[in-house]
Amino acid sequence: MNANNTGQKNAHVVWQVMSITRDERERLQGHRSFMVWFTGLSGSGKSTMIYAVEEQLYRLGYRTFALDGDHVRRGLCADLGFSHSDRSENIRRVGEAAKLLTQAGVIVLAAFISPFKADRQKVRNLMAAGDFIEVFCDCPLAVCEARDVKGLYKKAREGEIRDFTGISSPYEKPDHPDLVLETAKKSVEECTGMVMAKIKSRLQFADLGKADLAEL
Ligand code: ADX
Repeated sequence: MNANNTGQKNAHVVWQVMSITRDERERLQGHRSFMVWFTGLSGSGKSTMIYAVEEQLYRLGYRTFALDGDHVRRGLCADLGFSHSDRSENIRRVGEAAKLLTQAGVIVLAAFISPFKADRQKVRNLMAAGDFIEVFCDCPLAVCEARDVKGLYKKAREGEIRDFTGISSPYEKPDHPDLVLETAKKSVEECTGMVMAKIKSRLQFADLGKADLAEL
């Protein structure tokens, strides 16, 4: 029977074992890889945080890559909108892309609203325990809306944008995030320090002496 008729489109794809392991790649570069996933409303500070944390890690000599909804949605996910199913597919694709990057040895900093718990959990499930660090940018809707950096909340209130998170589409807060950043109350520097403190143990894990961790 043709595999495509069964609905299982990858039935004839044979798994090829990689000859160079992730562990070997990590040893070559001198540090481990993992994923730091920032979730929260639009305007809650996710993008600000990934770039601030990335800058610190970069200066200390870590290989990083920042994945940001506003960028990914112009390329990899340009065909997707903001319905529930499109958001789920957005997060599935990004999760898989982020996993590939971690397999390449890169520390991934991801900023996506990722409003649905189930979608975030699926990304967590892709990763080994401890390799997915969920950071909740906890900023009240009223503050995000008052800032309205991109002018999108105004458009959403006026009905110009449909299915807007927090206005006409839900946001499911994480029950047990690995870290909560109250971005309306704390400075970018404070929040960056909290993230660095949180990931410090992951950086030290391989004990390969990459960075001067005393600096963190
Ligand atoms: S997610 O819900 O699928 O995780 P993602 O993080 O990729 O969303 O993209 C969110 C960005 O898209 C927002 O920061 C905002 O700039 C833009 N955007 C455009 N339309 C919407 C909408 N309906 N809801 C939320 N964000 C939107």
